Amino acid sequence: MQPTTRLVSISEFLSEAQRIEGEGVAALSGAADAGALEDARIAFLGDARGALKALQQGLRAIPAPEKPAAGKRFNEVKVRLESLHAERKLALSAADNRSALADPSMPARHPWKGAKHPVSLVIDEIAEIFREIGFTIALGPEAETDWYNFTALNFPPDHPALDAHDTLYLGDDVLLRTHTSPVQMRTLQSYAPPIRILVPGNVYRRDFFDASHAPMFSQIEGLSVDEGISFVDLKATLSLFAKRLFGTAKTRFRPSYFPFTEPSAEMDVECQLCRGAGCPVCKGTGWTEILGSGMVHPSLLEAAGIDSERYTGWAFGMGPARIAMQRYGLPNIRVMYDSDVRFLEQVPQ
Ligand code: PHE
Repeated sequence: MQPTTRLVSISEFLSEAQRIEGEGVAALSGAADAGALEDARIAFLGDARGALKALQQGLRAIPAPEKPAAGKRFNEVKVRLESLHAERKLALSAADNRSALADPSMPARHPWKGAKHPVSLVIDEIAEIFREIGFTIALGPEAETDWYNFTALNFPPDHPALDAHDTLYLGDDVLLRTHTSPVQMRTLQSYAPPIRILVPGNVYRRDFFDASHAPMFSQIEGLSVDEGISFVDLKATLSLFAKRLFGTAKTRFRPSYFPFTEPSAEMDVECQLCRGAGCPVCKGTGWTEILGSGMVHPSLLEAAGIDSERYTGWAFGMGPARIAMQRYGLPNIRVMYDSDVRFLEQVPQ
């Protein structure tokens, strides 16, 4: 636009303004996409080499009496081109959005769906099985006294089981319960038989964190006390429970020892990951232990003021995480503590 700086007459200035306006309108309104529009903006409205800038410089050479008319015309052209640019920009971006919406092959966005944790699912399932045969839910404190957690359950002070439980102490006499069994004694003290309770809850052990241990995990305790209850009731009820949860999977009872049950037994289920063939989860044995159980020791009943000649009972404690591993075929217990959504979403709800 060099020639404009040589303009001397108003008529030359006006015809140049006319030409720039016409070409600018054509370029801006004809821009087919954002790139073409930007090119047109630089050519006509650009600060450095834009045509309007050159026209503005031409104003200086206009004789003084005619300057107001020339300035007015310059502003008209400037405002027209600027607003045309803004309009066109808006129209092009709206068109962009429309074409995105109109494309049916665009991938859909999946809203994230919440999922229940496998341990919660198994706890619900176990609670339902026992609810149907007359058990009600009972709860107890996680911060427990030494007496409820150990002494009342016949653990002598120097018993190796205290080490095995790897207790987390909160004070001299207060600890984080290492099992849900203290709720047995709390229930025996508070309710008269017949008693049938199921106690889901968190328990704590200072175990190191490996593929099968975590410092906090859940347990489910069960307790049944009435007149005429025998080991037959224990075996029949737990076998029925296993059948409901695992279908045709084989189960077996092994003699065991707990200071608060006598006699005691552990129940194994055929490893569902290898169907009994032996794998790392069952340590090659083909079986996984899912619960400890036994006949309630008479000393617990007596300590709670219940006549142990008249009443007998049985109890069990199981680990829902281990049961969930078997139920859902999970090879590693750790995935259950990570709460990784990619894993949780795969658990059938
Ligand atoms: N409390 C025992 C444990 O944590 C399990 C158990 C409960 C055994 C009830 C017998 C009766 O290992």
